[in-house]
Amino acid sequence: MTSRADVDIRPITESEFTDWQRAMNTGFLREPTLSEEIVDARRAQFTPGRSVGAFDGGRCVATFRSFAQELTVVGGATVPADAVTNVTVTATHRRRGLLTRMMERDLAAAKERGDVVATLIAAEYPIYGRYGFGPATTATEWTVDVPRAGLDPRRAGPQDGGRVDLVDAEDVRKLGPELHERLRRTQPGVVSRDELWWQVTTGAVRFWPTFQEPYYAVYRSAGGEVEGMVAYTADDNWGDAKQPLNTVRVKWLTGVTPAAERALWLYLCSIDWVVKVKSGWRAPDDLLPHFLPDPRAAAVTTQADWLWVRMLDVVRALQARTYGAAGALVLEVADRAGLAGGRYRLEASADGAGVCVPTGESADLTLDVAELSVLWLGDESAVRLAALGRVREERAGAARQADALLRTSRRPWCPDVF
Ligand SMILES: CC(C)(COP(=O)(O)OP(=O)(O)OC[C@H]1O[C@@H](n2cnc3c(N)ncnc32)[C@H](O)[C@@H]1OP(=O)(O)O)[C@@H](O)C(=O)NCCC(=O)NCCS
Repeated sequence: MTSRADVDIRPITESEFTDWQRAMNTGFLREPTLSEEIVDARRAQFTPGRSVGAFDGGRCVATFRSFAQELTVVGGATVPADAVTNVTVTATHRRRGLLTRMMERDLAAAKERGDVVATLIAAEYPIYGRYGFGPATTATEWTVDVPRAGLDPRRAGPQDGGRVDLVDAEDVRKLGPELHERLRRTQPGVVSRDELWWQVTTGAVRFWPTFQEPYYAVYRSAGGEVEGMVAYTADDNWGDAKQPLNTVRVKWLTGVTPAAERALWLYLCSIDWVVKVKSGWRAPDDLLPHFLPDPRAAAVTTQADWLWVRMLDVVRALQARTYGAAGALVLEVADRAGLAGGRYRLEASADGAGVCVPTGESADLTLDVAELSVLWLGDESAVRLAALGRVREERAGAARQADALLRTSRRPWCPDVF
């Protein structure tokens, strides 16, 4: 067995990209050898200096990549984020500290660069808490039992002068980015998408050996403005009794107004032959069930932690967002990596703005940076974390006050996997 020190961790060169892809696919238990066409397509994601590999005797045995992202916070501002992805360690080299080495290296560089947080989507819950990450948003998937929903297709179309039309992939690439930008200006938890995202989602660039071409529909308001868009696929299921029992699967659905969301969900739930609509990953407080005459027709089939956040700069993170109440709170933040720890005073004013400064005043709440990262986007309760022993109240009532400041009326949501 090679010792830990013999494994060299460094940014890969472009000529090592194919080996690096092979190592990543091996780590993710996917077919190791990809076609040249797919490797070439994925080369667009090669991030110089930030596509990192671990090499043992010339063989790539671990992969890690981070890239620049913007994350929307409560109030609609964005912060620069270090998005972590492509994390694998080959089974022969697991539990020898390779991930820890790659992560420490990346977080230190992100801090140095001035990123406010690091973000990721975790394959398994127990991996990332030790590095100061915490689950900051939740995703919910509903399966709609269409016959039970009680919709009358004659009345399911928009009643507000708006319309739903099918469009092509090219229209999605043209109209989608601006729609996503609109969503991003209002929805905490949403992350930026680059042009490549739109090319991959529409099949113009193929990252996977198979690609099922989706259908695309847009909702336009009475004024002709694009306010919503959905990409969905359908299966071909005639059951034993020779009757159509098709399932629609939503790849993604973006609505920037309730009217757009209503029109698109009702459209999907009233397509002939379709008996089930799987919603894809939505915010836990998505309006979908309540658009249906019988909301219980939408059953939650999965509910899971989604975007994990790791605060790197407490002052900028807390000043970027807005607050639901006026008040001051002193937070003692522990960070064993030494990146964001310290004692901070947050003062929120009645107009929602927050000022955060390092302080010597006595603390109201003591918590780890992972817990502060969880609370930051407003989806979790400090009172709940205190009950779990994950936040300590140094002043009676401080957790309740933290909730009044930090929690939001609608929940944060990250629609993307990265
Ligand atoms: C997850 C993975 C990257 C961890 O790599 P690794 O090099 O084995 O991790 P490390 O040796 O640095 O582990 C550091 C610590 O995390 C713990 N840990 C790592 N992965 C864990 C997991 N999946 N579950 C629970 N604990 C885990 C280790 O036990 C170790 O704990 P310790 O410090 O108390 O000894 C690797 O197991 C892997 O590639 N898994 C499959 C692909 C995957 O899930 N990737 C993540 C995508 S988000």
